[in-house]
Amino acid sequence: MIGIPRHTLQEMIRSGTLQTFDGMIELDEMLRAFPDAKWENDAEYRRITEIKEKAFGKRVFERALPDKEVLAARLTELSKEYASSQAMLMHYSQVISWLDEKIDEIAEDHGTETIHALHKLRAFLLRQLAELPPEAEKAQAAMAQERILKIMSAHVTIRPSGHEFFVEGSDTLLEAALRAGVSLEYGCSNGNCGECRARLVSGKIIKVRPHDYVFRQDEKDAGMILLCSCAAVDDVVIEANVAGTQDIQEQLLEAKIKSVDVLNPAVASLHLLTPRSQRLRFLAGQSIRVSAEGVSGHYAIASCPCEDRRIEIQILRSGKDAFSEVLFSKLKANDRVELNGPFGDFVLKDDSTHPVIFIAFGVGFAPIKSLIQHSMSLDLAEAIDLHWLADQSGHYQANLCRSWADALDNFSYFPHPHSNDLERSLTEIVDAYSDLQNYDVYASGTLEQLQIAKRFFLKGGLPEQQWRAGGLNL
Ligand code: FES
Repeated sequence: MIGIPRHTLQEMIRSGTLQTFDGMIELDEMLRAFPDAKWENDAEYRRITEIKEKAFGKRVFERALPDKEVLAARLTELSKEYASSQAMLMHYSQVISWLDEKIDEIAEDHGTETIHALHKLRAFLLRQLAELPPEAEKAQAAMAQERILKIMSAHVTIRPSGHEFFVEGSDTLLEAALRAGVSLEYGCSNGNCGECRARLVSGKIIKVRPHDYVFRQDEKDAGMILLCSCAAVDDVVIEANVAGTQDIQEQLLEAKIKSVDVLNPAVASLHLLTPRSQRLRFLAGQSIRVSAEGVSGHYAIASCPCEDRRIEIQILRSGKDAFSEVLFSKLKANDRVELNGPFGDFVLKDDSTHPVIFIAFGVGFAPIKSLIQHSMSLDLAEAIDLHWLADQSGHYQANLCRSWADALDNFSYFPHPHSNDLERSLTEIVDAYSDLQNYDVYASGTLEQLQIAKRFFLKGGLPEQQWRAGGLNL
């Protein structure tokens, strides 16, 4: 691309004068090695630049456009920034003219040597001003892209937890937080209860949904806002409580069945939709009681809170579980069920940065699925290993696990076939980790499976406080 023969590049790589990473040479490294290369004259380089620009435009286009009031507010902010930069530029240009005049003025009263030095200085300044250095040109392109992204989305930081996320499209701050897996306090989600109150520390917000909640004067003075009725205009910092299991009240609500997917003769997936005005608050890994047709059952939630109103529950068909029989034989789309919960504290320790091992026994995959999706949306763990030990229900969502492994560099999936020798399977898993003390382990299965697994992991060197278990009611 830059007129350097391939063998020369190979020789430079061998001798260490040109660094590679993963078999590739970074553009910066090429610029360092060949500072005089004229990239912009190269047809191939131009073609790549065009492709990149088109790809960036497509990425921008694919994002949901912000609400029109938010868009107008963001454009107003950018126009102010633009006007202030223009004013500064005009001022700098004025200073340069003054400097030019000053040089002439000083030169009049001095000898040839000083005059020569002053003219050299002026020529230098004019040369520098006439041409934008290549780094500035590159920075200009990056800044233009950053500006567009700022129009399309805004960055939010939550204090004191340090969680971060982006608000896109017509999302309120609350919707964007939940989508990103950040469990902020809220109640009605439509501006009545005031439970989503938070303090705006910095940045600009705009009210995009009306609310009936009336702020007291001291709340107004403290800069309180309602997260369910505001969107971010620019990057904002907000002081808000991220809920733990103890902060979430038990709720009772009715939900509509979206679908009943029979995954195989032993397992069905129940997809529910909660009302717009009454969402289910829960943390990934928690469970819920579901009732319909006069029967009920207690199950782990398989979906992530980031899926908003959509709830998934995976249910093993069992003669001992009356609800499972009703689900397989009667329930269908648009039927109503009653939900009561959430329960349990099998949730992620989001202050831990350890790599994570998830152990799912049979349908214990359900809460593990919720935890994995939650940890993906928060980008919590540096590495995630999933071991799924099948029972008679098999690896009923193996494709999903494989697609996670394909899409994510830090995710590995290890399916273990149905076996009557649980201890042998656990020995194989534990023996694969020589440094268990560096991991957090989350396991879900029957109480008996969990007791055995815990014994194996602790014996393999896992500190007890890094073991978490979610028992299934089977
Ligand atoms: S959640 Fe009730 S007012 Fe925001």
